[in-house]
Order: sequence, then C-alpha cells, then structure tokens
Amino acid sequence: MSKIEIRNHPKYNDVFISGPQEKLKLYTKNAVVGKRIYGERLVSHRGTEYREWDPYRSKIAALILENPITNFLAENLKCLYLGASSGTSISHLSDIMTTGIIYGVEFAERSMRQLIQNSSDRTNIIPILGDARFPEEYAKYIFTDIDLIYQDVAQPHQAEIALSNSNYYLKNNGLLIIAIKSQSIDSLQKSEQIYEQEKKILEKAGYAIIESINIHKYAANHIILVVKKSN
Ligand SMILES: C[S@@+](CC[C@H](N)C(=O)[O-])C[C@H]1O[C@@H](n2cnc3c(N)ncnc32)[C@H](O)[C@@H]1O
Repeated sequence: MSKIEIRNHPKYNDVFISGPQEKLKLYTKNAVVGKRIYGERLVSHRGTEYREWDPYRSKIAALILENPITNFLAENLKCLYLGASSGTSISHLSDIMTTGIIYGVEFAERSMRQLIQNSSDRTNIIPILGDARFPEEYAKYIFTDIDLIYQDVAQPHQAEIALSNSNYYLKNNGLLIIAIKSQSIDSLQKSEQIYEQEKKILEKAGYAIIESINIHKYAANHIILVVKKSN
C-alpha cells in the first residue's frame, strides 16, 4: 500500500485529494477496508484507508475535477443511480453517502451479478435488476424519497429516460445529474448539436439546467448536465 499525503477536498465533504492542483488525485474513504472494486489503488494515511477515484473510469470523478459550482454530494442522500454497471462509481458514492441509500438500477444481467458481489458488504447500496426506460417497474424496491438521480446509461433517448425517472421519483428541488454521451444518441450528428437537443428536451419539461460541464478530457463525447426539478 502506498504512503501519500491525503487532505480534505475544499468543497466536498468525504471526498479527499492529494497532489498539486494541476495533477489532483481524488479519493474516498474505503467503507470496506482492504477491498478493491475495479483495481483502484488503496492508500493508507494516518490510520485510514482511502480508494483512489479514477476520473477515466468514473464520470462523477471527472465532474468533480472539472469544478462544478453545485455541491451535489452529502452523506445522507437518497440517490437513484441509473446505469450502475458493475459498481465502479456507485462504490465511491457508497463511501461518501454513509448514512444514505443508493438504489442502483442496471439491466445487463452480467453487470448486475458483479454489482451484487461488489456491494455485498455495502449496506447502503440496493442493486435493482431493471430497465431505466420503465421506472414504474422498480417502484416496489424504492422505499424512500429520492434527493438525487444520477444517470449514465449510454443509450438513445437519454433525456427522456432521465425525465421519466425524475417525474416519477425525484422530490421537488431534487437534483438530476446526467452524463450525456452524444455517440449513443447519434454518431453522425455533431456532439454540440446533440447536447443542445437534450438540454431543450429537459427545459421544455420544466427542468432548469444549472450547469453543463464538458468532460471530454476524461470521457470522449460526454458532457454532464446538472439539472434541477422545481415544478
Ligand atoms: C457507461 S456504463 C455505466 C458505468 C457506471 N455508471 C460507472 O461509472 O460505474 C452504462 C451502463 O448502463 C446500462 N444501461 C444501459 N441502458 C440501460 C437501461 N435502459 N436500464 C438500465 N441500465 C442500462 C448498461 O448495461 C451499462 O452497464
């Protein structure tokens, strides 16, 4: 295990950093000591174990490194995570949302099997085998209000999927964070046009786009939208 000086992130509670500003590395406190989820580096500092949070593997880490104005993390959030895959990003949210709950929806059975294995020691993750296009189908597994929806489904109709879930689950003034992958929507159209088209769909439905953050540096053809529900 490496020895590195770890310090608090200046803005996000329970997110940690090391190194100079231009080469910042992110970490979360490992909730399951000794266990890696995706081959990430484990670092021990003053008796605590941290997991390095890789922005090339996790778009939420990329978002944080791009300095959004919105502080969208807190330890007690109830979060609906659409496109949980095998659990890379959701495991870091689980390290952060220690008194909250994260419902992880994933429709690929193989990824779901890995997610179940990866979250077996993490009581704040509830894996749900379900299709994000049909939010009412997993309503029986969701037993709290939802403060935050995070969506990373790499599918056509990303804005529509986000809206149907937000209309169904998100509480008023809750946040919706969507990773938009232009290539999954239309590989021929320019990315910028697709981003604008997805934003318009959200705005037309009465949602306010608070921020649009380009994460091309870490994930090709992706932006992240931070959106508020307030109707
Ligand atoms: C880019 S990966 C997500 C990576 C993950 N967010 C992370 O950072 O660890 C997209 C995932 O969304 C899932 N997915 C795509 N469409 C879906 C749908 N309609 N419902 C549920 N999951 C879906 C895919 O199977 C895939 O695992």
